[in-house]
Amino acid sequence: MYNRRLQMIDVLSGKRVILGVCGSIAAYKVAELARNLTLAGALVDVILTEAAERFVGTATFQAVTGRPVLTDMWSLPEDGVVGHVSLGVDADIVVIAPATANTIARLAAGISDDLLTTTVLVTQAPILCAPAMNPNMYEAAVTQENIATLQRRGFTILEPDVGRMAEPMVGKGRLPEVATIEGELRALLGQHNGPLRGRKLVVTAGGTHEPIDPVRFVGNRSSGLMGYALAATARDLGATVTLITGPTALTPPSAVALVRVETALEMRDAVHAACQDADILVMNAAVADYRPADVVEQKMKKSDAGLLLQLVPNPDILGELAQRRDLFKVGFAAETQDLVENATAKLTRKGLTMIVANDATTSIGQAEIQVTLLDADGTGTPLSRQPKQQAAAAIIAAIVERYLAFNQDR
Ligand code: C5P
Repeated sequence: MYNRRLQMIDVLSGKRVILGVCGSIAAYKVAELARNLTLAGALVDVILTEAAERFVGTATFQAVTGRPVLTDMWSLPEDGVVGHVSLGVDADIVVIAPATANTIARLAAGISDDLLTTTVLVTQAPILCAPAMNPNMYEAAVTQENIATLQRRGFTILEPDVGRMAEPMVGKGRLPEVATIEGELRALLGQHNGPLRGRKLVVTAGGTHEPIDPVRFVGNRSSGLMGYALAATARDLGATVTLITGPTALTPPSAVALVRVETALEMRDAVHAACQDADILVMNAAVADYRPADVVEQKMKKSDAGLLLQLVPNPDILGELAQRRDLFKVGFAAETQDLVENATAKLTRKGLTMIVANDATTSIGQAEIQVTLLDADGTGTPLSRQPKQQAAAAIIAAIVERYLAFNQDR
């Protein structure tokens, strides 16, 4: 059934990832990256440089990937293919993390004197490179020139984090968080061959805070979980994603453009700006319907007389975009009664292509959600109750299907 077809498998499933590890102290951190990629279904071949072997052993990487770890160009299994080039030829993506100044220099010079540099030279897959080294080595003119050379040749280079190094100094040279590297890797894979590559998608997430005074606000229970998951999934499928978010406690996905807002009016400005050149808008945010008519400048004093708050309506951000026929618009409708009728009315009023309807009493602030997808032609597709991450993947899969048809019709 439709419902089942929309069950998405992770984009990393079955992908051949080569993880090149160089001799930097940060080498120990990427064992977790190897593990996460493997758990997501990727076939991860780890190549350690000679220097990397002095920092980390092969046993950990072998255990977390379930595959032999490669260190020597001359000891690859021969299966009729020239061993030292087959890895690079078969790869879907190559990630070098941590990348040292030395390996970056060898790659920039086209040297291929070990398995990692040979693999990189031979591969036609996208290459992600995460430099990590002493800040002085990173800032050295020759390293910067080598990095620029690799960028010019199409490598995606991540900026190191700034912070405390292993040696007692603070600077720019730390390996980015594993989650950041994984997000960048997913984005790069998606941009290479995902169905949304070359498309700009805007997602809004979380609820808005409407200030009463400097310390109080009117808000709602939206956690932002669904919107963040939608943004990450769209990124994985190759979209250039702008995530416009109200205040949440979540860590945002990497490799998306993040715009933080507080109020509905700020969200409106951000949505209008981001949508100017966008292809798809997924309006998941729980925008406050009203805001206090006046924001009091100083903290309000408690009073026995109680407090009467006057609220004025916020603009309907989606509704204002109803005339944008070129924009594929998806709304969300959280209802507590007459779900399908109310959601369908919103879809029509706001000029949407699709609306995702759900029962607010059983989803907002929860980890799981049951949604029904409603199309402009009146079709309703209920999905099973599932974790929000999975529901987000199913919703994005449905958007991809409809967007391709929407684009063809124009
Ligand atoms: O009108 P209602 O709030 O029920 O509609 C929900 C949909 O409209 C959601 O997609 C929400 O993000 C969007 N919305 C909006 N601007 C508002 C209120 C809701 O774009 N002021």
